[in-house]
Amino acid sequence: MSKIIRFGISLDGDLSRRFNARLKKKGYSNRSEAIRDLIRQDLVDQEWHEGHEVAGAVTLIYDHHKRELLNKITDTQHDFQKAILSAQHIHLDHHNCLEIIAVKGNPIEVSKLADMLKAVKGVRHTTLSMSTTGKEVA
Ligand code: NI
Repeated sequence: MSKIIRFGISLDGDLSRRFNARLKKKGYSNRSEAIRDLIRQDLVDQEWHEGHEVAGAVTLIYDHHKRELLNKITDTQHDFQKAILSAQHIHLDHHNCLEIIAVKGNPIEVSKLADMLKAVKGVRHTTLSMSTTGKEVA
């Protein structure tokens, strides 16, 4: 870990009050940790926009009874095998499945994988959690 740097921030009173209220709601015990998280989030956004290696998770909710759906989901995952670290399948109920796919690689590839899975007929909901490998964001 590098040296800790301290700096002051000038804020409009109203903005400061709103920020403090938000921190309280989110459970932060101090402003520094909240500001560090905002900075990290901005750096993660930059990693995704500038094409650095990223990590994250794609989650899918789908009805496994739909014809061809499982084949399409499996084929797509094989096509993007380089970007997929692992996948976990959970049977939610009689109809619905939850699949969590851990991903790492080029953000364009990872986003394309999420978009292709989202477009499969019978997939009810998809999210892409955009995170970091941790190499760039401390
Ligand atoms: Ni299932």
